[in-house]
Amino acid sequence: MFLAKTLGTARVIPVLSLKSRRRSLKLLHIDSSISGSQSVSRQLSASIVTRLKDTSPGLAVSYRDLAAEPVPHQSPGVLFAKLKSLYEAGALAGELGDMMSAAVRSGAQSDASAQDEFAATNVALDEFLAADIVVIGAPMYNFGIPSQLKAWIDCLAAPGKTFSYTATGVEGLAGGKKVIIASSRGGFYSASSPMAFMDHQETFLAGFFGFIGVTNMTFVRAEGVNTGPEQRQRALQSALAEIAVLKAA
Ligand SMILES: Cc1cc2nc3c(=O)[nH]c(=O)nc-3n(C[C@H](O)[C@H](O)[C@H](O)COP(=O)(O)O)c2cc1C
Repeated sequence: MFLAKTLGTARVIPVLSLKSRRRSLKLLHIDSSISGSQSVSRQLSASIVTRLKDTSPGLAVSYRDLAAEPVPHQSPGVLFAKLKSLYEAGALAGELGDMMSAAVRSGAQSDASAQDEFAATNVALDEFLAADIVVIGAPMYNFGIPSQLKAWIDCLAAPGKTFSYTATGVEGLAGGKKVIIASSRGGFYSASSPMAFMDHQETFLAGFFGFIGVTNMTFVRAEGVNTGPEQRQRALQSALAEIAVLKAA
């Protein structure tokens, strides 16, 4: 509501303030499989996004294909640029702060390509921070996640933005988001499987997003997809059935 004065008389005009108007939800869609159109996780992540768009009109979707356009890996240059920016923001204390202070005083600079790479990692971080919902196509490669997806996750591990260390331990700062993971794997790694201990894919993702404060996390899984065409079909159908009841909010 706001107050309007007309010819000396005050009238209260009820209007919808911008704050009370519902902002449309933002969804960030990430894929990381190297298998193109044959990819199971790509099929699942696309189906999840379609389902959420259908059930939440106005959903604003942005997309990043990490196999086609990988984000930079961590490197000495990127680390230096990151520490320098934390130092300049007054967010580095202790030994690291002293080290950066000495480095800056001695005129140490990161080279232009490291600056560009650091900027690219910040773009990926900002996309994540801006999203309400994050849908991630995450295949299992060699018991873990694709290195392209790991490089993206490295962009999200940002002290002061997604987590902070406090006197009582770590505080996750990315709590308000919903993360949906489309998981695909050739074999079986669920709790009842003798191979469960080799799952460093879903367990890593659950651990990482939990660390940065995400509590609303869903795994849609197709597993055993390389054990035969019937199991592949069964796994896909079961995952698609889970997707059919997903909701954006
Ligand atoms: C490089 C590579 C490594 C793989 N490593 C494993 C593995 O460790 N365990 C497993 O069960 N399947 C493994 N697979 C099979 C994939 O998990 C399976 O094909 C899955 O569908 C991949 O997801 P995508 O179809 O979205 O690419 C691997 C596949 C590739 C291409």
